[in-house]
Formats: sequence, structure tokens, C-alpha cells
Amino acid sequence: MKKKFKIAILPGDGIGPEVIKETYKIIHVLNQYFNLNIQTKEYDIGGIGIKNHGTGLPNETLIGCKKSDAILLGSVGGPQWNHLPLDQQPERSGLLNLRKKFNFFCNLRPAKLYRELQDLSPLRKEIISNGFNILCIRELTGGIYFGLPKGIKKNGKEKYAFDTEIYHEFEIKRIAHIAFQIAQKKRLKITSVDKSNVLESSILWRNTVKKISKKYPDVSVSHLYVDNAAMQIIKNPCQFDIILTSNLFGDILSDECAMITGSIGMLPSASFNEKKFGMYEPAGGSAPDIQNKNIANPIAQILSLSMLIEYSLKKPEISKFINTSIKNVLKKGYKTLDITNNKKKYVTTEEMGNLITEFLIKEYEKNEKNLISKNI
Ligand code: IPM
Ligand code: MG
Repeated sequence: MKKKFKIAILPGDGIGPEVIKETYKIIHVLNQYFNLNIQTKEYDIGGIGIKNHGTGLPNETLIGCKKSDAILLGSVGGPQWNHLPLDQQPERSGLLNLRKKFNFFCNLRPAKLYRELQDLSPLRKEIISNGFNILCIRELTGGIYFGLPKGIKKNGKEKYAFDTEIYHEFEIKRIAHIAFQIAQKKRLKITSVDKSNVLESSILWRNTVKKISKKYPDVSVSHLYVDNAAMQIIKNPCQFDIILTSNLFGDILSDECAMITGSIGMLPSASFNEKKFGMYEPAGGSAPDIQNKNIANPIAQILSLSMLIEYSLKKPEISKFINTSIKNVLKKGYKTLDITNNKKKYVTTEEMGNLITEFLIKEYEKNEKNLISKNI
């Protein structure tokens, strides 16, 4: 009997459902050819959760996620919910709530330049000619996103608003340990990013990272202020391997890293808690402006599935097959609208899903004997 592996699928809002649809094609091939037994069940989150259940994170969804071996999420949010108070909006009541409920404190966002997409990068050729491969490790359940107090108050007629950036030592330590362990295994260097020339929380961040670094003497680590880091990323992205940073700085810098690869539609992400339970989602957001047009790029979502196969299902060999298929599709010149300069000739969301599926089957057939002998 093949071991059953349960994925809770949360398509969410915007382009979420369309790009999730393409991942089912891949899951089907994985079950049929790669000897996996993945079972999926869908649940509402975000705006669709509000619409169907009156809350961004329905109880059913929470229970379904708890019963699963991993979560695959599309995206949440859209303009139709902007009128709601902040704590009821899909992002906060759905996504951030889910991150907090499962304590997904560790967020990995790999930003890699594909040679086939080099022309789309907003950076000059000579800056990116050596390529780059940056892993943003973002703290995901602390800092200003969740710090209390926060709110809007009135002082007479004048309103004022406040948020709290707060980090406990243990929160910095646990994410730093993960960064150092990844760096050690892959022989990468770490750049820890903070604003310790201004913020107390950043002073604690820097000192804690320095303290942890002593336990990993073979890993090289440096420290940058966030303004300098934002500048260095566009000046010379290949100087970075791992960027380790707080929730807010990670949100901003991971978008920057994503954009310089050419398209935000290519960037997956993985989030983990202490038990290594994982949630996987594209880093790009719900893109409501292109929703239901069959033009969204499903690659970030499929790469998120690939990360799930690597980290939660622990089948890195199979994940490599998915990644290779994507690379081969791009090499053949098939591009969705966001990653082509030729706006008249592009493949649709569905076509891209079909192509990656076909190429994955081809990869399987090419390596069939090998796979059987390795019992993958
Ligand atoms: C991200 C997103 C979210 C965040 C939003 C949708 C709440 O921008 O995952 O980067 O700010 O974390
Ligand atoms: Mg973001």
C-alpha cells in the first residue's frame, strides 16, 4: 500500500483558484506516474471564507488543515473587502490568522533568476549576467504584524494610529538557527538585515543573530541595515545567498527580490512551524486585476507544490522533476503574459499548466528505469 499523503488545498481569492486548478494536473501525474498517493480536500479561506461562512478562517478550514499533512494555499484578498475593518479583512482574518494559529514562524522565499527570463528583469544585463539565487528567510509570526498595542485613536479631533514592532529573543533565536542550519548544509553565507541604527527591536535582532552565529563558526554572516540592503539588492544581487530578516522587512525585500527575477508570478514560498508542519503559497498575491482572464502565471503555485513535495512529503528527487519540467517549458519559449516581451504571443494559465504536465510526463518517461530502480 502506498502511504497516503493528505493536502489541504485553500484556493482563496483573486487568481488563487485558477492557478490552484493547474496544480491538480501535476498532482494527478505524481499519483499516476511517480507512485505517490496524494489526496486533496479543498477549504475556503480569506474573502471566499467571509462570503460563505462569515469569517476569513472558517472553523472547518482550520480543522481540515489540522488533519492534513501539508497546506497548499492560493492567495487571499481583493478590493471588494477593502471597506471592512482591518481585522476582518481577508488578509488579516484569513491568512495572518492561519499563519499565527499554526505558528508558521519560518518563511522561505527563494528568488532565482532563470536564464530564459533574464531579459525581463528590470536590472541591466551586466548586473545580472552572473545570475543570482537568493533565499529570503522571513520571520513570519512576530514583529509589527502581530505586536500589540495597535490601533487608531482620537486625541480631541486629531486621529493618531500606532503599531508595535516587538521581538522576543526566542523568536529571533529559532529563525536564526534555521537560517544557520540551511547555510551550513548548503555552504551559503547569511546576510542578516535590520535597522539597528534606529530600532531597539533591531538591536536585539542583531545581537541575538551574532550570539547564535558563534554556534556555527563555519558559516559566514554579515549584517546590513535594511535601507542599505534594499539598495545592494538592486546594485549587485549576486552578492547575496541567504537574507535573514524580520516579518516586515522580509515582506518588502522578498517582493524586491521577486521583481528583479523578472516576474512576481514565478516565486513560491514555504512556511513552517516548530514541528516542521508546512504551508506553501506563491509570494505574489491575489492579483485581482487579472482574475478570471486565464492569463495568470501558474508557475509560482506549481513551484509551491514542488516545495511541498520536497519539504513535507520529503521527496526532493520528485520535486526536482517538477522544477526541471518548468525550466524545460521556459527553455522551449513558452511564456505566460507576465513573462514575455511579445504581448501578442503568450500561453494561457491553462496552457501553461498543460505544458508543465506534459513535460513532467516526458521527464518521467526519460528517467523511468532509474526511478523504478531507486524505488521512487
Ligand atoms: C505576503 C503578503 C502578505 C504579507 C499579505 C497578503 C498580508 O504580502 O505574503 O508577502 O504581508 O505577509
Ligand atoms: Mg508581501
